[in-house]
Amino acid sequence: MLAIVRSCAILGLEGCLVDVEVDFNPRAGLPSFNIVGLPDNAVKESRERVRAAIKNSGLQFPNKGYVVNLSPADLPKHGPSYDLAMAVGVLAATDQVPLEALQNALFLGELSLDGSVRHVKGVLPLAYSAYQSGIETLFVAAEDARQASLVEGLQVIPVQTLGELVEHLYGLNPIAPQQTEPLEIRDSFDLPEGIVDFADIKGQEHVKRALEIAAGGNHNILLSGSPGVGKTLLARAVPGILPKLMLEEALEVTRIYSVADLLEGDHPLIQNRPFRAPHHTISQAGLVGGGSVPRPGEISLAHRGVLFIDEIVEMGQKVLEVLRQPIEDKIVTISRAKGSLTFPANFLLIAAMNPCPCGYYGDTLRACTCSPTMIGRYQGRLSGPLLDRIDIHLDVPRVDHDKLMSAGRAESSVAVRARVEAARQRQRERFRNHPTLHANSDMGVSEIAQLCVVSPEGRQLLELSVKRMQLGARAYHRVLKLSRTIADLGGSERIEVPHVAEALQYRPRTSGVS
Ligand SMILES: Nc1ncnc2c1ncn2[C@@H]1O[C@H](COP(=O)(O)OP(=O)(O)OP(=O)(O)O)[C@@H](O)[C@H]1O
Ligand SMILES: [Mg+2]
Repeated sequence: MLAIVRSCAILGLEGCLVDVEVDFNPRAGLPSFNIVGLPDNAVKESRERVRAAIKNSGLQFPNKGYVVNLSPADLPKHGPSYDLAMAVGVLAATDQVPLEALQNALFLGELSLDGSVRHVKGVLPLAYSAYQSGIETLFVAAEDARQASLVEGLQVIPVQTLGELVEHLYGLNPIAPQQTEPLEIRDSFDLPEGIVDFADIKGQEHVKRALEIAAGGNHNILLSGSPGVGKTLLARAVPGILPKLMLEEALEVTRIYSVADLLEGDHPLIQNRPFRAPHHTISQAGLVGGGSVPRPGEISLAHRGVLFIDEIVEMGQKVLEVLRQPIEDKIVTISRAKGSLTFPANFLLIAAMNPCPCGYYGDTLRACTCSPTMIGRYQGRLSGPLLDRIDIHLDVPRVDHDKLMSAGRAESSVAVRARVEAARQRQRERFRNHPTLHANSDMGVSEIAQLCVVSPEGRQLLELSVKRMQLGARAYHRVLKLSRTIADLGGSERIEVPHVAEALQYRPRTSGVS
């Protein structure tokens, strides 16, 4: 007897329906249980879990011949998430589950030996794809049900145990469907927990202003300064001024975290922009993603939020170079034996570095002990093309003692965030007919031409600077986008001279790159 049960495989951030076909041969001489259709080892081990779970749930597991085919056969199947579908298939093929109950239903879950159903990775994207393929009811582990119920229109049944599921399928003891999760981002005007308030950072007005611009239009920023001047402190305060996540962005981020298995059960929808701070010793795969079952890397976990790389010069050359493509394209492509897949990676890069090996080049307190060659070589470790992708280059000076000791508080993060929000709101209105654009830094060449209207005087200044500073085409466009954000923060629809002038001052001093 043959039973077909639906399950789903994950490919990057997309789900792909998998038919679990179970053929039961009651006349087989020798007991067997074969799984075919590109299963990995974890899938092959399902056989033991399925057998034990069925027996321990008080159901029958006739010791005869079984063939389980996972189709499509050319799609690699990983992990234990097919357990539940296989067990239901065995039960249906042996007349212990009604076949009609399997129509338009999909089963996702790992089984433990006692028959309880366990969590699987990537439930949110799996549930999305299932719904889009016409699935009406999704059976998942109880702990995954809230996540799955973010998909509007899909009926989600939380399953604790295999025995309970069988009773439900016979209509004996129906399980109540999961309540749908409210799809909303909570309005919060408070500083996120554990984040330093701009008000507590003394002086550094210039740096705070630059960080406000970075957050205002999602512009990459590089902070350079001596040890202890507060680079790390300033960068770590940025989550406090980031604009609120939009619902659509929150869903994108939540899907990524679902696949990476980093969601906490009680918060199905991510509410805050991510802030990722990988150590400079991180591997290439850890940073951009990869592995035999491709997993999003730090740059994708930072999608719609911040990627903070402290001591960026210490990062390996190879690792730094792989950042170039995603910074430009805002997605990362991972090649695999069978085709390639992409993860989104639209993040705000905040990088910090010392200006030289000893750290004190240009410092007002201590003399630098490095030779010019050493300084040159140190700074040269960040290649031109990478530097060129950073809109804001900033020297972080040392705050003098009087200021550091003063009792006065500076402007709070909440006040800065209000300006950032207003600037983002202007951008959203301007991008109404450009659904792929979220912030000024996302603009391409044609959108820049269309949406960055510069006053005649502003244009004059730009033309002059292009010649004087020898700006390449890419640098020129970056200056324009940055001016756009500065104008947005100032509430101006047209880009004026002061906006252009401020944007130009954030170019690297050793201009000429690109
Ligand atoms: N402007 C400031 N206001 C208040 N505290 C500050 C300020 N600047 C620095 N500090 C204090 O100095 C400490 C060191 O700063 P931080 O670690 O950010 O320096 P850094 O520039 O990252 O140094 P390094 O190059 O060694 O990493 C902070 O934790 C904070 O206590
Ligand atoms: Mg530091």
